[in-house]
Amino acid sequence: MEKWTKVSWEEADEITDVVRAAHCAFWCEPETKTLRDTPIKALLMMQLRFDGLLGFPGGLIDAGENILEGLNRELREEMALDNARFPVGKEHWVSAHLRQTQQPDGSFKKTQVCHFFSKKLSKEDFYEIEKKQLEADHWGYENFGLIRAPVLEFTAGSVAEKYPGRGFAWFLTHSFISCAREQMTEMIISEGILTKDEINRYFEMSRNPEL
Ligand code: GTP
Ligand code: MN
Ligand code: MN
Ligand code: MN
Ligand code: MN
Ligand code: MN
Repeated sequence: MEKWTKVSWEEADEITDVVRAAHCAFWCEPETKTLRDTPIKALLMMQLRFDGLLGFPGGLIDAGENILEGLNRELREEMALDNARFPVGKEHWVSAHLRQTQQPDGSFKKTQVCHFFSKKLSKEDFYEIEKKQLEADHWGYENFGLIRAPVLEFTAGSVAEKYPGRGFAWFLTHSFISCAREQMTEMIISEGILTKDEINRYFEMSRNPEL
C-alpha cells in the first residue's frame, strides 16, 4: 500500500533517506483550434515509458546532483533537449508528492519525493523539441516516444457525439506511472487549460465509457 501527500519545496528538501525524482510537462497553446468542431485545449507532452506506462520525461536525481541539475540532465538524455535554450528552473516548479510505503508491520515509511515542473513553450519550440527526440540517447530504451495527451474538449461537438466518453476522458483511464495522472490533471488546472469542474466531468465520463 502506498500513501501520497503533497509537500512544499522546503519540506521536500528536509526529508532525508528518500529517492528523489523530477519530471516536467512541456506544453503550448494549440495550433489548430479544433478537431472538426471539437476544440483542442492545449498540446501537452507526455511519454510512453519502457514499462508500458504513461508518464512525463524526467527521472531520478543522481548522487551529487540537485533537483534542477538532475531534471535537466534527464531531459537531455530522454528527449535530446537543448538545456541551454530550454532550461527548466525553480520558477517552473508545480508540486512535490511524498510517497510513503506500508511496511510489513503496518507502519508507513517515506520512500520517495516526486517533484513536478511545467514549462510553457511557443508552438515553434514545441514542434522542434518533438522532432528532435529521435536524437536522444535514451530514445527507444527509456523513452518509447513523446506523445501528445489528447486534451480535447470532448463534451460537445460532432466528434464527441459520435464517440461519447472518449477523448480526454478515455485518456484518463490509461495506466500512468506513480502519481503522473495527478500531476497531469493538477497542471492542466493550474495552467488554466481546463477547470477543476471540467476535469471532474471527464473523470465522471471516464467511469461510464460507452464504446
Ligand atoms: P533510469 O535512468 O533507468 O533509472 O530511469 P530514470 O532515471 O529516467 O527514472 P524514471 O523516470 O523511470 O523514474 C524515476 C522514478 O520516478 C521512478 O520511481 C518512477 O516510478 C517515477 N516516475 C517516472 N515517471 C514519472 C512521472 O511522470 N511522474 C511521477 N510522479 N513519477 C514518475
Ligand atoms: Mn484518419
Ligand atoms: Mn532517464
Ligand atoms: Mn525517466
Ligand atoms: Mn536516470
Ligand atoms: Mn537512465
